[in-house]
Amino acid sequence: MDSFKGIKRTDYCGEIREEQIGKEVIVCGWCARQRDLGGLIFIDLRDRTGLVQCVFDKTEDEAAFEKAFSVRAEFVLACRGVVRARAGAKNDRLATGALEILVSELRVLSAAQTPPFEIVENSNTSADLRLKYRYLDLRRPDLQRNIMLRAKATKVARDYFYENGFLEIETPMLMKSTPEGARDYLVPSRVHKGSFYALPQSPQIYKQLLMLSGYDRYMQIVRCFRDEDLRADRQPEFTQIDLEMSFVDEEDVMRVNEGFLARVFEECIGVKIETPFLRLTYREAMERFGSDKPDMRFGYELCDLSEAVRESEFKVFREALAAGGSVRAINVKGGASVFTRKEIDKLQDFVKTYRAKGLAFIRMTEEISSSFLKFLSEEEKERIFTLVGAEPGDAIFVVADRDKVVFDALGALRCECAKRMGVLKEGDYKFLWVTEFPLLEYDEEEGRYVAMHHPFTAPMEEDIPKMDTAPGEVRARAYDCVLNGTELGGGSIRIFQQELQQKMFELIGFDEAEAKRRFGHLLEAFKYGAPPHGGLAYGLDRLMMLMAGEESIRDVIAFPKVQNASEPMSACPSEVDAKQLEELGLAIVHADQDGENS
Ligand code: AMO
Ligand code: AMP
Repeated sequence: MDSFKGIKRTDYCGEIREEQIGKEVIVCGWCARQRDLGGLIFIDLRDRTGLVQCVFDKTEDEAAFEKAFSVRAEFVLACRGVVRARAGAKNDRLATGALEILVSELRVLSAAQTPPFEIVENSNTSADLRLKYRYLDLRRPDLQRNIMLRAKATKVARDYFYENGFLEIETPMLMKSTPEGARDYLVPSRVHKGSFYALPQSPQIYKQLLMLSGYDRYMQIVRCFRDEDLRADRQPEFTQIDLEMSFVDEEDVMRVNEGFLARVFEECIGVKIETPFLRLTYREAMERFGSDKPDMRFGYELCDLSEAVRESEFKVFREALAAGGSVRAINVKGGASVFTRKEIDKLQDFVKTYRAKGLAFIRMTEEISSSFLKFLSEEEKERIFTLVGAEPGDAIFVVADRDKVVFDALGALRCECAKRMGVLKEGDYKFLWVTEFPLLEYDEEEGRYVAMHHPFTAPMEEDIPKMDTAPGEVRARAYDCVLNGTELGGGSIRIFQQELQQKMFELIGFDEAEAKRRFGHLLEAFKYGAPPHGGLAYGLDRLMMLMAGEESIRDVIAFPKVQNASEPMSACPSEVDAKQLEELGLAIVHADQDGENS
C-alpha cells in the first residue's frame, strides 16, 4: 500500500467543475468501477459528493497505468491529475459527466476484499445482508443523500428554534422509570444494587420542570427509547425534536411549528408548504377518514350507511347494527376496473387483518355487481347510491362491525386503495393538525382508563366538570401533526396545577401514594409556582423518512435496529461476562433459545 504522506486532497470528486479544466487537482475516494480498455483504464472514483472519472493512459504515464491495472472495486485511492473535457461520451446523469481527470499519480491507500454486495444506488440486495454490512450499505449514494439531508434538517431545526428564542438544553439519559406508556429500557445500577435507571421514553417530565424553572422555551434533539414492537416507522431508539414553551396556548405552539416545518421543507428539499395547516378534530378525522392520522392527499371519505340499511334484510348489516355498531362505506372513484372480483378477494384478506369479518362491495360496472345489493330494497339501494355519490365506474366497499373495527378497516383500506389506484403523487405534502383527542382511553385489559397522550395533558376547560361524571367524554388539549398519513409529531398544553394533576392521576387509577411514588417530584414542583405551558415532539426519523421519500425510517438512520430489536452488524444485544453481572448484583434466571438474555 502507498503512503498518504505528501498528498493532500484539493477537491471532492463530485464537485469538479468545468472551470477547473486544465488545472491540477487531487481527489480521494473509493473505486466505484474500474474498466480496462487496453491502453486506457477508467476508474470512477466515489466520495460522498458523487463520482468523477479518472483516466490512466499508458502512453502518458506508464507507472500510474500499471498501478491502476490492479485496482478493484472499493479500493481507497488518491489521484493527482489534470482536469480535462471528456474525450469519450458525456454522461448527463453525473454532475461531473462532461469531465475527467487524466491521472499522473495514483496512490493505493487501502485495498478491499470483494464486498458481499455491489455498492450501487437502489440496491436490490436483501435488507438483512445490507444491515449486516451496514458500513458498506452506508456507502450507497441514496443512503448517503438521506444521511446528509438529515444533518441539514437538524441544523435547520437548531437554527430556527434558536432564532425563535428556544434554548437547547440536555436532559438525563439515565432517569427514573415511570411505567406509563411503552415498556422502559432499564439500566441496572452498580452502586445501588437492585435499583435501576430507565432510559428516557421522552424528556417529558424534565422539559416541564425546565418550564417551572423559568427557561421559557426549550428544545432538544434527543434520543428516546421505547421497548415496543418495531414497524416501518418505529425503532426501539429513535430521535425526537422535542420542545416546550411557557405562557402559551395551542395556537402559539402550532404557529411556531408550522413556521418550522415550512422552513425545513423549503431549505432542505425546496418544497414550499402552505400554512396554516388544515385542522380536524379527532372526531371528525375518525368519522371522515377512519383514522386519527388521515392521509389527506386523496378522498375516498367514509360514509355512514347505518340509517339507510337499518331495516334491511342483509343479516351482516342488521346484526352489526343491533350490536350497537355501524355500517360504513368508501367510494373508490373509478375503481371498478382496478378492483376486479379477484382483487376484491385480496382486499377481503386485507380488511381481515384489521379484524373486519368481511368486505361487502358494489362494482358500478355496466351491469352492477355486488355482494349484498340483492338483499336490499330498491329504496335502500337508491339511498346508498345517493349517500356515497355512486357513479358509473366506481368501486364501493362496505364494512359492518363495531365502530372501532369499521374505522380501522376502512381507514386502512382507503389508503390501500389509493396506492392501488396510483393516485399518490410524489412531492405532494399534505399537513394536518388533529385536535381535541379524548383525554382518556379505556383499557379493557387493565380495566381502567389510561391517558391517551400522557397523564400531563390538560383537559379542555369546558370538559373539566365531566372528569367526574363521564371521563371517557373529556377532550384533551392535545394536537398531533400529521403528514401524508403519518403521525409526525404530537403534543399538548399541560396541566400546571397540582390539584388537577392529582385528579388526573386518580382517573387513571393511581391513588395518592402511587402518584407520589411515581411522579412525586413533579407534583412537589407544582407547589412552587408553575407557568402555564405546552409543547410538542416530532419523530425526526419519520420527518426525514417523508422528506427523503422513503418507506421506512431505517433508511434515514445510520445504524438502525431490525425487526427483533437487534443490530445484525455488531450482534447486539449480547451476553455479558459473569463478572459484569456480579458487579451489578444480577443473575440471569433464564435465557431464550437464541442465547439472548431475557
Ligand atoms: P409521542 O409519544 O407522541 O409524544 O412521540 C412524539 C413523536 O415521536 C415519534 N415516535 C417514534 N418514532 C420512531 N419510533 C418510535 N418508536 C416512536 N415513538 C414515537 C412519533 C411521535 O409523534 N413527550 C411527548 C410529546 C409532548 O407531549 O410534547 C411524546 O413523546 O413521530
Ligand atoms: P356472507 O353472507 O358471509 O357470504 O357475506 C356476504 C358478503 O358480505 C361477502 O362479500 C362478505 O365479505 C361480506 N361481509 C361479511 N361480513 C361483513 C362485515 N362485517 N362487513 C361487511 N361485509 C361483510
